[in-house]
Amino acid sequence: MNFNFSEEHLQLKKTVRDFAVNEILPKARLHDEKGEFPKEIVRKLGELGLMGITIPNEYGGSGMDMLSYVIVMEEISRVCASTSVVLSVNNSLVSEVIKNFGSDHQKQKYLVPLAKGEHLGAYCLTEPQSGSDAGNQKTIARLEGGHYVINGAKNWITNGPQSDTLILFCLTHPELGNKGITAFIIPTKTPGVGIGKEEDKLGIRASGTCTISFDDVKVPIEDRLGEEKQGFKIAMVTLDSGRIGIAAQALGIAQAAYEDALKYAKERKQFDKPIADFQGIRWMFADMATRIEASRLLIYKAAALKMKGQPFTKNSAIAKLYASETSSFVCNRALQIHGGYGYTKDYNVERYLRDARITEIYEGTSEIQRLVIANQVLKAIEI
Ligand code: CAA
Repeated sequence: MNFNFSEEHLQLKKTVRDFAVNEILPKARLHDEKGEFPKEIVRKLGELGLMGITIPNEYGGSGMDMLSYVIVMEEISRVCASTSVVLSVNNSLVSEVIKNFGSDHQKQKYLVPLAKGEHLGAYCLTEPQSGSDAGNQKTIARLEGGHYVINGAKNWITNGPQSDTLILFCLTHPELGNKGITAFIIPTKTPGVGIGKEEDKLGIRASGTCTISFDDVKVPIEDRLGEEKQGFKIAMVTLDSGRIGIAAQALGIAQAAYEDALKYAKERKQFDKPIADFQGIRWMFADMATRIEASRLLIYKAAALKMKGQPFTKNSAIAKLYASETSSFVCNRALQIHGGYGYTKDYNVERYLRDARITEIYEGTSEIQRLVIANQVLKAIEI
């Protein structure tokens, strides 16, 4: 498998790194401390074409490939994981699902403003009783004449507080369990949609997360996404892609922590020499470098399979599992290398550690990734 970057990929990496370092990094700590959504930065990401990276030009996107998306996610996450999750949900869960399953009318109406960054999207799958067990939905849509009437509530909705467009999964055929789920596109301003209080989170604090309630929300039939009862598969296929992006987010956070630790270990002296000279520290760097490199290759492989149109469910779960556990591993060691200073807000490493933790939880916990991988491995004819 050839992982060489093209000239376009290299140029993209440079452009995004420059933007990330010059425009995002200076405000990242303040946004994190205040839990303040980076509105102006997200607007600029839209102008750069990064809110619809893999969406065709005709629908307002940049028409780039999955590897480009991975490059962008790593670079933005290297400075601010709050910003990268905002971008990730809009790109891979919301814009992608409309690109893959939407009608042309839906693409013109909803996808174009999302891909241009004029609207922000949120993906509403999780409910209080339906986290890892995504098929166990209670929110319900009843067909009444020319529209559906939706009642229920979703929680842990990333981008929810700032969203314009919701992708909602709910039951149209409750008797069928996960086979009775249907997907919808709903403008957040629709009467009956209620935005709940924002969660006060450990990490990714500048991204908004909230509960969203649906109280007799009327949705026209033309805003159903795909066919009735297709919803669970639409949700799963979409998460397969989304997990590659979260793996790249985990990688970007790990890379940042690793680089900061390298710099610190070379500067910080104890016992009359830089701490980088001590074998205990050097072995930590060897372990960090090995895991980061392996994560990057797993992510590129999953992206390459997707680009070739080959199955990638197993590989996206492997990439997310390994990269997210690597991120926590690396950030923990990076903090250890910083000693007491790493435990303060004078250094970014404590933010990286807090941000890394979520990558083991959202878009499926590490336990769910193991379940997906095991299912795929055990059903395979060839291993
Ligand atoms: N692609 C296509 N089809 C799939 C699929 C996939 N990846 N995974 C499952 N399916 C299909 C199965 O083939 C099966 O179809 P048939 O009935 O026709 O055979 C059907 O879906 C049901 O599959 P399972 O029996 O495997 O379903 P399950 O109920 O056991 O659940 C699960 C499987 C993998 C645990 C799933 O529930 C899951 O992924 N859970 C985690 C949910 C999750 O990631 N939530 C994240 C929320 S979004 C988020 O976090 C965004 C954010 O804020 C950043």
